[in-house]
Amino acid sequence: MSTGISPNLALDQEVARLRAAGERVLHLGFGEARLPLHAGLARALADGSGHTAYGPVAGRPEVLTAVAGYHGRRGLPTEGEQIVVAPGSKPLLMALVAAVDGDVLLPRPAWVTYAPQARLMGREAWGVEIPERCGGVPDPSALADTLRRMRQRGRKPGLLVLTLPDNPTGTLAPPGLVREVCEIARAADLTVVSDEIYRDLLHDPATTFLSPAEAAPERTVVTTGLSKTHAVGGWRIGSARFPAGDRGPELRARVLATASEVWSSLAGPLQGVARYAYDEPPELTEHVARGARLHAAVTRAVHRIMTDAGARVRAPDGGFYVYPDFEPARAVLAAQGAADSASLERVLLERAGVAVLGGHHFGDDPGALRFRVATSLLHGGTERLRRIAMESDDPTDLPHIRRELEHLAQVLTKLTA
Ligand SMILES: Cc1ncc(COP(=O)(O)O)c(C=O)c1O
Repeated sequence: MSTGISPNLALDQEVARLRAAGERVLHLGFGEARLPLHAGLARALADGSGHTAYGPVAGRPEVLTAVAGYHGRRGLPTEGEQIVVAPGSKPLLMALVAAVDGDVLLPRPAWVTYAPQARLMGREAWGVEIPERCGGVPDPSALADTLRRMRQRGRKPGLLVLTLPDNPTGTLAPPGLVREVCEIARAADLTVVSDEIYRDLLHDPATTFLSPAEAAPERTVVTTGLSKTHAVGGWRIGSARFPAGDRGPELRARVLATASEVWSSLAGPLQGVARYAYDEPPELTEHVARGARLHAAVTRAVHRIMTDAGARVRAPDGGFYVYPDFEPARAVLAAQGAADSASLERVLLERAGVAVLGGHHFGDDPGALRFRVATSLLHGGTERLRRIAMESDDPTDLPHIRRELEHLAQVLTKLTA
């Protein structure tokens, strides 16, 4: 059972403490999107203040229709009755664990919260190695192997969680791989959760995205939200799309049962925000596209810095993370006290003033020298700087971003030379 608060949030608080004590910390450890707030979202929030009633547990009908439309425009025809909105996708993910019998299968590494949620629900979490080329999905043969081992141990596999694009690796699983993994899920009768919270932040808009909900429509629940796309994590707006057909209504009813006992409904004013955002008016899609371009430029620059410092790093496809592996520098790092993922995280913070999250928090091999870098924190510490970054055609050349990138490069060169 987990006894501490989630490592993401714990590190953020630790950095705030160090900074308050006067220390310079380059904070690359928190998964917050850091884009300027769009005026239309602010207006929708203010306009919604009259919504003081609890309202229906799933969300108001016009909000569910807006979310259904969002999925429809992404190749997934959807009815409002397949949707639930909630205060963030996190509680929906937890409710899904509660809704499906059996253990939870995760890519290894995977987002910090999936495994603790499974354990809080009394389930075992099984991490399955990711392929060489990308994260967010397990390697198909490792998945088949794990399913065999689970059955040998008398465990029942229930839920498979996939992340497209992925946190922590920042990569997107290609269609062929998604199909292969979905076939295995079908053969094992798993329920698939496809966490697509970074979907609208692909770095190249021409990238082909195949949702597991297209490959295995009968068994896939898609979760998403506004936290990353619109950088409003603190507003807590998430949604789930359930499959049509046999499995969907039953699963949705179970999630609604949990919702009704835990959070009742998404806050009334925020449902107005959800409706506006999921309707995707042109002024908002333009803003999202600019945000994705900013994430792409900064994330690619950090990827280059990590590669130049000698790490092996998968090239990022979307979102705002890279996940370097400093195995090639093991001897040099060991001499400085960084012999595994936890000590590397500590050395980076205490000696170099760089805050990142070690790979062990993502279920990865604790002996490996891997960590996650959240690049969006480089966009700027104030709304004004973030707006300048968003409007720039070459954000990595802006003084406030260039300075931090150069600092990061220097620190890593010193540590690994
Ligand atoms: C992969 C992934 N899923 C879900 C979430 C949670 O998002 P929300 O703010 O919708 O609860 C995050 C946030 O860090 C995430 O990285």
